[in-house]
Amino acid sequence: MQKLFEGIFSEENKVYTKNLLPGKRVYGERLVKVNGTEYREWDAFRSKYCAALKSGLTKSIFFNGATVLYLGSAEGTTVSHVSDIIGEEGAVFCVDISEIAMKKLAALAEERQNLFPIISDAQLTANYKEYFEKKADCMFQDISQRNQADIFVRNAVLLKKGGLGAIAIKTKSISQAKEKLEVVSDEIKILEKEFEILQVVNLEPFEKHHYLVLVKKK
Ligand SMILES: C[S@@+](CC[C@H](N)C(=O)[O-])C[C@H]1O[C@@H](n2cnc3c(N)ncnc32)[C@H](O)[C@@H]1O
Repeated sequence: MQKLFEGIFSEENKVYTKNLLPGKRVYGERLVKVNGTEYREWDAFRSKYCAALKSGLTKSIFFNGATVLYLGSAEGTTVSHVSDIIGEEGAVFCVDISEIAMKKLAALAEERQNLFPIISDAQLTANYKEYFEKKADCMFQDISQRNQADIFVRNAVLLKKGGLGAIAIKTKSISQAKEKLEVVSDEIKILEKEFEILQVVNLEPFEKHHYLVLVKKK
C-alpha cells in the first residue's frame, strides 16, 4: 500500500482507506488485509471525492481528528470513507434533506460513532449551526441543485478561516444549454465571494457532467 494522502492509500490503481470497523462492509466494497491491517476499497464510480483522487486532486481536505461538515451525505457511501480517514477523534456532521437516506445513515452512525446525521435542507444553516461550538476544519458538498455554489457559500460561515473545502458541481443540474466549463466558471464566480480557488478537477470518466472544485476559506 502506498500513502496517497493522510488516511488514503493506493495499490495497483485502486484507492483504499483503513477500515475503522474491521470485518464490516458499508456498501458491498472489497476488504483487503495487508500486514494485519484491513483496508476498504473506495469505488470511484460511486464517490465523487474518490473520482477526484483518481483524476489528479493535488490536496486532500480530510485528516485524522478533523471536524467535517458534509453536505449531501445521502446513505453514507463516501461519508463512510471520510469516517475511516478522520478516525475516532474526528467528527462528520452529515446534512441531508432526504429522510429515507438519513434513516440508513442513522444506522451507520450507530456503528461508526464519529458520524452525526442531521436531517435538514443545507440552505438553512441556522438549523444546524448550534452543533458547531468550534468551526469545521473542512467542508464537502455533493448536492445536485441549481444553486450548488450558493448553498456552499451559505455554509462557509461554519468553516474556519483557512479551512479546505471541496464541492462536486453537477453542471447538468444548473444548465443544459450552456457549455459545461461555462457553468463551472459561473459557479466559481459565486464561490470566490468566500473562497480562494485551488484546483478544478474534471471527474469524467467516473462521473459525467461533474467537476470537483477544491477551495480554501478566505
Ligand atoms: C448525489 S447524492 C450524495 C451522494 C453522497 N455524497 C455519496 O457520495 O455517498 C445527493 C444528495 O443530496 C441531497 N440533497 C439534495 N438537495 C439537498 C438540500 N437542499 N439539502 C440537503 N441535501 C440535499 C439528496 O437528498 C441526496 O441524498
